[in-house]
Amino acid sequence: MGELAIEAKAMRKVYRGGVEALRGVDLDVPAGCCFGLLGPNGAGKSTLVKTLLGIVHATEGSAKLNGVDYRLPASRRDVGYLPEGHAFPPYLTGRGVCRYFGRLAGLRGKELEREIDEKLELVGMAGRADAKVTKFSKGMKQRVGLAQALLGKPKLVFLDEPTDGLDPVGRTEIRSVIRKAVEAGTTVFFNSHLLAEVEVICDELAILNQGELLMQGSVGEIKEGVAASKGGKGLRVRFITGEVPGEVWEELRHEGGEREPNGFTLFLEDRERIPAKVAQLCQAEVKVYEVTPLQGNLEQAFVSLLSAPPTPTAPAAPAQPAPPAEGA
Ligand SMILES: Nc1ncnc2c1ncn2[C@@H]1O[C@H](COP(=O)(O)OP(=O)(O)O)[C@@H](O)[C@H]1O
Ligand SMILES: [Mg+2]
Repeated sequence: MGELAIEAKAMRKVYRGGVEALRGVDLDVPAGCCFGLLGPNGAGKSTLVKTLLGIVHATEGSAKLNGVDYRLPASRRDVGYLPEGHAFPPYLTGRGVCRYFGRLAGLRGKELEREIDEKLELVGMAGRADAKVTKFSKGMKQRVGLAQALLGKPKLVFLDEPTDGLDPVGRTEIRSVIRKAVEAGTTVFFNSHLLAEVEVICDELAILNQGELLMQGSVGEIKEGVAASKGGKGLRVRFITGEVPGEVWEELRHEGGEREPNGFTLFLEDRERIPAKVAQLCQAEVKVYEVTPLQGNLEQAFVSLLSAPPTPTAPAAPAQPAPPAEGA
């Protein structure tokens, strides 16, 4: 395994009053990826980020950020942060916000101004940054928030619900900035309660529920893992084909095949059955144009996972070498 941007072991947080927000979370975040921490409201996502950053004191556990013990201030040197539901001082301009946080990050003088220009450009706020933040829409405030989090080229950035409350256009803009940051080599740790969001943007994700990490892996692995934990066996596969001769179709129908406009779907025990099926079709001179496993969407998987009783055997953590995540 390559370098880890975050390595958390048995992180536990009991707030005063007794709420156990984290129940021993183990988490490995590979450097260079866009990592999504997914969970419903109250799952403990913000608590995890805040404990890793030393804003909230962990009750138990240990962690490293960029290889440095999280209890040391040095662990936060190369780290950016956009808190959930943040508010900027209303008397500042967009540029003023960046200057304020840039100084906190240790930037000064020309380097600071250069960084601010670069990051405002990146988030598409270069032309509008000299207005007061009170004049900004929610999306513009979030973009300035992202710009400040990315000042000084941090290796790791925590974004706590960065698209919350934004319209679809605003969401898309934020996503594209996040992808650019990842392409530039920043590890992005992204909290969200929105599946659709995480599915399109993240390389890897973990699901947190009631302070417990249920699963970690690529989007594809999570889908498969959920299917397995539901006791569900097999998968439906769509074949887009040319004409299927009658006798071949009879056979497929026996195997549970169902006609579709340009082919058929077939239920297979596992994905390893796909190549043989394709070979068999070719043998019968059926032209195969497309083969798509239909795994359902992550939303369904997520909901069924959260509503299922806890299964200690559910596949958690270390991802085995796996097929590349689709759509990542
Ligand atoms: N400062 C706090 N004091 C007491 N309980 C808290 C505090 N912050 C969060 N909690 C509780 O901890 C749990 C996890 O909260 P949080 O980390 O904010 O979840 P999420 O970010 O996933 O919505 C919730 O039950 C919440 O009410
Ligand atoms: Mg939160």
